[in-house]
Amino acid sequence: MVTPDSPPASTILTDIDSARRLALEAVASAADSEALRTLGSELNGKRSALTQLKSQLGTIVDADARKTAGQLINDATVTIAEAFSARLELLSKHDRAAQVTGEFIDLTECVTPDRRGHSHIVTQSTERLEDVFTGLGFHIAEGPEVETDFYNFEALNTPKSHPARSESDTMYLESGVPGSVLLRTHTSPVQIRVMQTWDLPIYAVMPGRVFRRDTPDATHMPVFHQIEGLVIDRNITFAHLAGTIEAFTKAFFGSDFTSRLRPSYFPFTEPSAEFDIRRANGNWIELGGCGMVHPNVLRSGGIDPDEFTGFAFGFGIDRMAKERHNVEDIREMYTNDLRFIRQF
Ligand code: FA5
Repeated sequence: MVTPDSPPASTILTDIDSARRLALEAVASAADSEALRTLGSELNGKRSALTQLKSQLGTIVDADARKTAGQLINDATVTIAEAFSARLELLSKHDRAAQVTGEFIDLTECVTPDRRGHSHIVTQSTERLEDVFTGLGFHIAEGPEVETDFYNFEALNTPKSHPARSESDTMYLESGVPGSVLLRTHTSPVQIRVMQTWDLPIYAVMPGRVFRRDTPDATHMPVFHQIEGLVIDRNITFAHLAGTIEAFTKAFFGSDFTSRLRPSYFPFTEPSAEFDIRRANGNWIELGGCGMVHPNVLRSGGIDPDEFTGFAFGFGIDRMAKERHNVEDIREMYTNDLRFIRQF
């Protein structure tokens, strides 16, 4: 329909061209990605020049001219969108570079000879444990902190009804089948991974971080560290386990410390024991669990229990650091108070 004030087709074509040119110029001169994003909303908005021209297409009487104008508007829209994306990518790179430069901290200026840092007390203990055990002929292995139900429980002969599997003890992740992926509650799953991949015999220790829904107190943290031990060979007996633990206690804590084993229960060892050490003040403190590897666990790891036997243990590293350095409360090790940390 032609109304008296309808613009002629040629005017619309010229207007499309100049709208396209103006938009491209505006995109090219946007100073930063925020300004460009604001411009983007304007260019896509109802009041943009191209949108307005689009709404005038119906006023062009000649069908071919209308089609040409429509095509030009589409082409202009695509060209502007491409220029917009390219400019946004460039400006985002500049923004990131500016942020990196702005937030750069030269840490080297803090490291003067009189203020050199050192490893955390738990890291020091882990390294010392590794030294002691490699000295006793063990190799070191590591496993993932995010585990599957299979490695953390199932393969360790831990039945579905076991309290350790409950929501109140274990941190499950929202991944896959509910209850199938979790933050490992102990380092024992690494036993299975080692059995599945290493050649026999196995003499391994596996340090790492573990997670439980424990309320922090003087001897508990919800995130703490364990070191697992695993020996699988022919004719391994409980006497080897007891001897290894006593040798380890003396090597790690000193000759005035002694260890004892108390009968206990773990689904993955049979028989099982708790391992305690006697402190200088005469009190005993529990440091870990241990026992002879259960035949079902050997089978989960692909090992024939009629041919091989073994023992395993799992110690709390944080508690070891606490005892070795006479720290009153385990929580002190995680407050990041430099007056505390600098003592060790
Ligand atoms: C276990 O975790 C078994 N996997 C140990 C094991 C391995 C037994 C191999 C048999 C064979 P338990 O839950 O008792 O057992 O933990 C072992 C040690 O971790 C404890 O003795 C303690 O030293 C330490 N521990 C446990 N919970 C915490 C906690 N919340 N904070 C700090 N240390 C902890």
